[in-house]
Amino acid sequence: MFITFEGGEGNGKSTQSKILYEKLKGSGKKCILTHEPGGTEVGELICKILKSEHSEPISAETELLLFNASRSQLIEQVILPALNDDAIVICDRYTDSTLAYQGYARGLDLETVRKANVLGSHGIVPDLTFFFDMDPKSSFSRIKTKLDRIEKESLAFHEKVRKGFKAIVKAEPKRFVTIDASRSIEEISEIIWNEVSSRIENGCNK
Ligand code: TMP
Repeated sequence: MFITFEGGEGNGKSTQSKILYEKLKGSGKKCILTHEPGGTEVGELICKILKSEHSEPISAETELLLFNASRSQLIEQVILPALNDDAIVICDRYTDSTLAYQGYARGLDLETVRKANVLGSHGIVPDLTFFFDMDPKSSFSRIKTKLDRIEKESLAFHEKVRKGFKAIVKAEPKRFVTIDASRSIEEISEIIWNEVSSRIENGCNK
């Protein structure tokens, strides 16, 4: 079973992916938690390039390829071996982020982004994706750390990201569970746990 957590910035999905991981481990399930960009030695180097400021701008196409380069490495080194070992894989961000950020927000052709994602992900599609939805104005007020290169983009950019995610969810409603990220940590973790446990009971975790 492959579960991804998606959404804009500062909406609590990293906290929730950790809570789910701990609960699954606690219930005796074989499980791994990873994230994008990064999650491998090479991926973390790519992540540094993507998040830090440079003396020249990074083009949207370069971003698209770097996120997918990091992804391909993560698939080969971490995700595929874990899925082949029958582990539940939780990934904090995945291909939907690329479609929302580099496609809908940066304005790259959506079909081109989808094709790059197929290459980077080796065609591996999540079984279940939690989309954390929140107005960027509110979610940014929660971020206490220094903003990175992409977080520093305009409010209009982050609003396009949110619209993009909503369009992605609408096109593939079966894969997604939308979470109102303004709810409490406890409420959200319960919604996620109920969803994942029922899918496990229904045999999704082969
Ligand atoms: P995070 O570690 O705070 O989630 O930061 C990852 C940043 O990278 C976040 O701003 C979203 C962005 N991102 C993309 O633009 N495209 C992608 O494909 C992924 C995975 C992340």
